[in-house]
Amino acid sequence: MIGSKVYSLDIVDSTNEFAKALIGKTPPGTVVRARQQTHGRGRYGKAWYSPEPGLWMSVVLEPAELGLITIAAGVAVCEALHACGVSPSIKWPNDILLNNRKIGGILTEIVDHHVIVGIGLNLNIQSFPAELTDVASSVYLETGQRIDRETMFDHVCAQLERCYAMLTNSQIDELLSLWRSRAVFLGHDVIIEQGDRIMTCTARDISETGALVVNFSDGRTEYVAGGTCRLLDR
Ligand code: BTN
Repeated sequence: MIGSKVYSLDIVDSTNEFAKALIGKTPPGTVVRARQQTHGRGRYGKAWYSPEPGLWMSVVLEPAELGLITIAAGVAVCEALHACGVSPSIKWPNDILLNNRKIGGILTEIVDHHVIVGIGLNLNIQSFPAELTDVASSVYLETGQRIDRETMFDHVCAQLERCYAMLTNSQIDELLSLWRSRAVFLGHDVIIEQGDRIMTCTARDISETGALVVNFSDGRTEYVAGGTCRLLDR
């Protein structure tokens, strides 16, 4: 049961790091949350700005297919926002967007046969440091709406429970349909970066393992399992 045990911290380096230290000592479904993170991390080791008005949390889960758990977490966060009257979209693999601007993200890590799902949601943040204003936004900045953090936390836990159950009960089609209904870029030309590899292709679909299905101009299809994706500027 997700959230049956919750560690609520005022300040921590990173909720993912705190959660990792709990592995083996706490039941699956345990959640770590903090008002602030001093060293919040995003994908590819990037720093994640984590001041007081956001929601920063990590969930300890039992092993599952990594691609799909990230997809499940993305859908859960979108459904939780929807329950608060906000209608976000998802950019593969795990960026949560409002008005095409990033307001949240998910960092999934495997440690000692457990999965840590870290969720960062820029809820009521009113301003960002200059270097982030081009790439980050918040629910408040995009909608003018302040969302109660406790209400959102409860919704995220409930939706994670629901979406994780879809994985474990073989309701993958239902989960992927929810993801598709929120996805941006499907049917559009995109640039995908995987380390040094940069590809221009058309995003077509999500696969049963959470990979992005893409087509190249020569007709080839590829299943892209990791990387970042942006719309091709014409
Ligand atoms: C991304 O790069 O989009 C993923 C961002 C994930 C940030 C969250 S905040 C809670 C948890 N703790 C961390 O240090 N990172 C994740």
